Amino acid sequence: MDAVDHVLEEVRQAAPEIRKGMEERRGYTEEENSSGEKQLEADIYANKLLKDRITSIDGVGEYASEEEDEITDCGEGLSVALDPLDGSSNIPTNNMVGTIVGIYDGSLPCRGENLLAAFYVLYGPLTTMTVARDGSVTEYVLDDGMRKTREEIRLEGEKLYGFGGNLGWSEKFRQIEDDVSRKLKLRYGGSLVGDFNQVLLEGGVFGYPPKEGYENGKYRIMFEGNPMAFIAEAAGGVSSNGQKTVLEVEVDDLHQRVPFVVGEHDLVDRVEKAIQRDTN
Ligand code: F6P
Repeated sequence: MDAVDHVLEEVRQAAPEIRKGMEERRGYTEEENSSGEKQLEADIYANKLLKDRITSIDGVGEYASEEEDEITDCGEGLSVALDPLDGSSNIPTNNMVGTIVGIYDGSLPCRGENLLAAFYVLYGPLTTMTVARDGSVTEYVLDDGMRKTREEIRLEGEKLYGFGGNLGWSEKFRQIEDDVSRKLKLRYGGSLVGDFNQVLLEGGVFGYPPKEGYENGKYRIMFEGNPMAFIAEAAGGVSSNGQKTVLEVEVDDLHQRVPFVVGEHDLVDRVEKAIQRDTN
């Protein structure tokens, strides 16, 4: 088993425990993460569980988490950056959440072009794991084991859209959203994993543009932007920060944010100009 397989296996085994663990950990703690967001007990639990296991893998050299300020050195080899519970503000109301993992060949932080594999777990009606590796995207249902349920997933077609941050959008972005909303059906749930997953499977476009107070977007590039852009591109879709693909963006800071749009090619083309930083 190589290090990538090993990370996949550890997350597969941890997923039912993370899911079960949410039941008793729906409350907020007094702590904040590096991005200034209030942490839930479930965020801390999921991070500890994944950190203990992933830092013990032979062939993993660095571990970083959205929930921690610093990178942990744990040996020689690949670097793992993850968001243990993405969309965790959905936990109190029992809406969609997920776990996002990027496996980089390079020291953190680094560009998304260094990703070898990326995947997410979606804690929906079923627990699924969607894996991008070697240029293709596969979905598995996680129960006792790992059952392949979709392969060679393609991000194509123009059915759904979702954009986060509506209260702080620029006028230019509002115009684009208005245009898109006349052709595609709106689906937005406030969880990157859930919102991305439906666009991946049904076709369309998803994004979180810069907004007032978040001039560089909301998503953390190492933990959210890069892995999801990598999955979208492996499925034949495209990603953009407004100027280039998300995977080409230079990353200087582990918790750096990025304006973000992914989806079907023509739709992303239409949206990308409106997500540049200087759009107001
Ligand atoms: O970045 C964390 C996150 O919870 C994402 O999973 C989600 O897409 C976004 O924030 C939701 O933001 P908002 O509450 O502004 O819709």
